[in-house]
Amino acid sequence: MDKRTQILRKKQESALLGGGKARIESQHKKGKLTARERLHFLLDEGSFEEIGMLVMHRSKDFGMEKEHYPGDGVVTGYGTINGRLVYVFSQDFTVFGGSLSETHAEKICKIMDLAIKNGAPVIGLNDSGGARIQEGVVSLGGYADIFYRNTMASGVVPQISAIMGPCAGGAVYSPAITDFVLMVENTSYMFVTGPNVVKTVTHEIVSSEELGGAAAHATKSGVTHFACNNELDAINHVKKLLSFMPQNCEETAPSIAYEITNESRPKLDDIIPENNSQPYDIREVISEVCDEGSFLEVHKDFAENIVVGFARLAGRSIGIVANQPAFLAGVLDIKSSVKGARFVRFCDSFNIPLLVLEDVPGFLPGTDQEWNAIITNGAKLLYAFCEATVPRITVITRKAYGGAYDVMNSKHIGADMNYAWPGAEIAVMGAKGAAEIIFKKEISSAEDPNARWIEKEKEYSDIFANPYRAAERGFIDEVIEPSQTREKLIKAFKMLENKVVNNPRKKHGNMPL
Ligand code: HXC
Repeated sequence: MDKRTQILRKKQESALLGGGKARIESQHKKGKLTARERLHFLLDEGSFEEIGMLVMHRSKDFGMEKEHYPGDGVVTGYGTINGRLVYVFSQDFTVFGGSLSETHAEKICKIMDLAIKNGAPVIGLNDSGGARIQEGVVSLGGYADIFYRNTMASGVVPQISAIMGPCAGGAVYSPAITDFVLMVENTSYMFVTGPNVVKTVTHEIVSSEELGGAAAHATKSGVTHFACNNELDAINHVKKLLSFMPQNCEETAPSIAYEITNESRPKLDDIIPENNSQPYDIREVISEVCDEGSFLEVHKDFAENIVVGFARLAGRSIGIVANQPAFLAGVLDIKSSVKGARFVRFCDSFNIPLLVLEDVPGFLPGTDQEWNAIITNGAKLLYAFCEATVPRITVITRKAYGGAYDVMNSKHIGADMNYAWPGAEIAVMGAKGAAEIIFKKEISSAEDPNARWIEKEKEYSDIFANPYRAAERGFIDEVIEPSQTREKLIKAFKMLENKVVNNPRKKHGNMPL
C-alpha cells in the first residue's frame, strides 16, 4: 500500500477508536452504546458520510496540547433514514466525556448550516459532560454558536435531540430549543445544575435520576417528549417521529399510499357514556378515527388531560390535539395549554394538518392556577391556534364549555371545518352552574329551592346542552353520527389539501410567553 494511504488509514483507525478501547468498554459497562454504534443503528446501512473525522482541538492549557483524539469528541455528517436525508451529530463520551470544545462546536455548527441550506432535519445524539472545562470561555462561545443556529433552524427544518447520557449545564439549552427531546431511562440526565450544586444552594438531597432523569422530565417538567426504555428504543422513536414530518417547512406532510374503502367505524357510536359526567378514554376515539395503529403519542405522561401526537388518516400525516375526559375531566390548565400550544406550533411550522377532538369542561379554577398565570399560559394555546394556517378540523365529541370552546380550534379562530356529535353540549357553562347564577333569586325564593333548581337546570340544558344552537349559527358545519367521523374527516382534509392562508405581514408576533 502507498505510504501516504497508510498514513491516512492510520489516522482514520485512530478516529474510529475515539477515546480508546478501555473507555469504550467502560461505556458498554454502563449499558451505553458508543457514538458510532448509535449512528449505525440510526441511519440506513452504508448511508453515513462523515464530515470532519480528523478535526482536533486547539487547546494548549493544562497539558491538553499532548492529548489529542481525531474527531474531538463528536462524530458528525449526513446519511439517510428510510431513504430520506438527515444531518447528524453524535457526541462521543469516550473523548473528554463528550465535552464541548471550540472545534467540537464548530463541527456541529457546520452540519447545522448544511441542514438549513439544504432543507433536511438535524438529529443530535447527546452524551456530554458539558463545556470542555480546560477551554473556558471558548467553549461557552461554542455553545452560543449552536444555540443561535438552533434558533435560526427552528421552523425551517425539524430538529430532534436524543439524550443518551449526561447533559449538564448550558448543554441542556440546545435540546430545549429543538422540536423534540427524547431521553433514555436510567442512563440519561438533564439539569442546569447537578445534585451537588443543588445540595450546596438549596440543601436538598436528590439523586441525578430524581432531579433530571427521563421519568422526572417526562412527567414533572415536560422537558422531554419521550422517555425511552433503552437507547435502541430511543433511536426507533426518532425514526418513527421523522416518518410523520416533511424534510423542511417548504414541503407538505408525507403521506403513504392508501385505498379508500368502507371508512365507517360503528364502534365510535358506543364510546361516549350515557351519563355525561362519566369519563372515557379519548385514545379510543383516536384509534378508531385514525389509520390502524398509526398514532404516536407525544408527551404521553405529561399533562395527561390533553393528548397530542401524530397519526395517519388515509395515509396522510396529521397532528392530533384532544382533550382527555379520563384525566381531570379533560380540563384545560397551565401545563396542558403549554403542551398543546407547542405541538400546534410544530405542526403549523411543518405543514402538518391539525385535528382537534374536543371534550372540555372549561379552564381549571383555583388560586394555584391563577397565581401561576393560567391567563397567560391558556392564551398560548389560543394564540397558537389563531395563527395556525394549516388545514384545521375540530370534532366536538361531548362538552365544549366556556372560553375553552373558543380556544379549542373554534370556527371563530380560523378552523376550517367544525363537526359535532349529536350528544355535544356547547354553552357558556354547565347547566347546573348556569341555572344557579341566572335563576338565583327565583331558586332562593321558591318553596322548594332544590326542586326549582333542578327544573331550571333542565330548562337551560334543553336549550343549550346540544349542538343545534351552534349549528343554526353555522359555528358547527355539520352534526354527524360518530361512526361517520372517519369518512367525513378523510373527505374534508382532502378538500383542504391546497389551503392557502396568509396572515398579516409582520416581523413576528408577540406570543404571550
Ligand atoms: C472536560 C470532562 C468534562 C468536561 C467529563 N470530562 N466532563 N473533560 N470537560 N466538562 C472527562 C473526565 O475528566 C473523564 O476523563 C471523562 O470525561 C469521563 O468523566 P467521568 O467523570 O469519569 O465520568 P462519569 O463518572 O460518568 O461522570 C460524567 C459526568 C461528570 C457526570 C458528566 O464527568 C461531570 O460531572 N462532569 C462535569 C460536568 C460539568 O460540570 N460540566 C460543565 C457544565 S457548565 P478521563 O480522561 O478520565 O476519561 C456548562 C456551561 C455551558 O456546560 C454554558 C452554555 C451556556
